[in-house]
Amino acid sequence: DNRSVKDAASPQQVDYQKVYNAIADILEDENYDDGSYGPVLVRLAWHASGTYDKESGNGGSNGATMRFAPEANHGANAGLEHARNRLEIVKKKFPEITYSDLWTLAGVCAIQEMGGPYIPWRAGRKDGNVENCTPDGRLPDGDKGADHVRKIFYRMGFNDQEIVALSGAHALGRCHVDRSGFDGPWQYAPTTFSNEYYRLLEDEKWQERKWKGPPQFENKSDKSLMMLRTDMALMTDKGFRQYTDKYAKDENAFFSDFSKAFSKLIHLGVPTAQLSEPVPLKKIEDQAP
Ligand code: HEM
Repeated sequence: DNRSVKDAASPQQVDYQKVYNAIADILEDENYDDGSYGPVLVRLAWHASGTYDKESGNGGSNGATMRFAPEANHGANAGLEHARNRLEIVKKKFPEITYSDLWTLAGVCAIQEMGGPYIPWRAGRKDGNVENCTPDGRLPDGDKGADHVRKIFYRMGFNDQEIVALSGAHALGRCHVDRSGFDGPWQYAPTTFSNEYYRLLEDEKWQERKWKGPPQFENKSDKSLMMLRTDMALMTDKGFRQYTDKYAKDENAFFSDFSKAFSKLIHLGVPTAQLSEPVPLKKIEDQAP
C-alpha cells in the first residue's frame, strides 16, 4: 500500500558518488571481523532485497523494512545490525538518502571496493513502514539442498545460472556461530572479491565437519575453510554444476554475470517509474586524485 509510504527527497537531490565515497571510508576497521565491514554490507543488501516474491510483488529492497523488529528479528537476519549500525554514520552525513537506497548502494560500494565488478545501480527506493515487513522464511537456509535453493530463488525470478553467479558472493566474509550457527570463511582472503569460491568448491576435497553445530563441510587439506550444504549443491547438482565449472575457469565471465544478477537483485520489486537512470558510481581507485 503506497499511501503509507513517506515521500523521500527526489533522487536527483543527492550526490550519490559522495555517499559512495563516505561508505568506502567506513569499510575498514581493524577491530571488526576480518578487518572490513564490506562482507556484512553485501549481506545486508542481499537480505534486504532477497525477500522479493514475484507472485505478490511484495518484499525486495524498496522499503528497508529490516529496520523494524519483526524483520530485524528473523533468524536469517541475525548479525545484520552490525551493517545497519555502521551505515548510520553515513546516514547522518546524508540524511536525504533513503535507507533502502543507502543499503543497496552500500552493497555495490563494498563489492566494487573489494575488487569486484562495476554494478549498475539506480536511485529512487522509498522507505516503508512496519506493515510492509515480509513474513519470515523468504531467505534460504544453509542446511538444505538444491530443491530448496531453487524454490527460494525461482520465487524471486532468478534462473539456475543467476543462482550460481550470485552464490559467488560467498568469496566474501564468513559464518559466525553467534549469528547463523555456522562457522568459518569460504576462502583464505575473505575481503577480496574473486572467483575463488568456485575454484575451491571444485579443487578442494570437502568432508562433513564433525562438531556440535549445524551440518557444514570443511576442506580436508587444512580444515580452515567451510561450505554450506547449499554451496555444495552448486557442485553436486547437474543443472548448477555447468555454471560452477564455467565460473571456476573464467573469472571475467563470473564478474560479468555476477554484476548483472546482483544488479537485478537489488532492484527487485522497485517500481520502474520510481527509479532514476543508472547512476555512475566510480571506484575510489578510478577517481581523479
Ligand atoms: C554469509 C547463507 C546466498 C552473501 C552467509 C551466512 C550464511 C549464508 C548461513 C553466514 C552468516 C553469519 O553467520 O554471519 C546463504 C545461503 C544462500 C546464500 C543459504 C543461498 C542458498 C548469498 C547470496 C549473497 C550472499 C546470493 C550475495 C549475493 C553473503 C555474504 C556473507 C554471507 C557476503 C558474509 C557475511 C559476513 O561476513 O558477515 N550466507 N547465503 N549469500 N552471505 Fe550468504
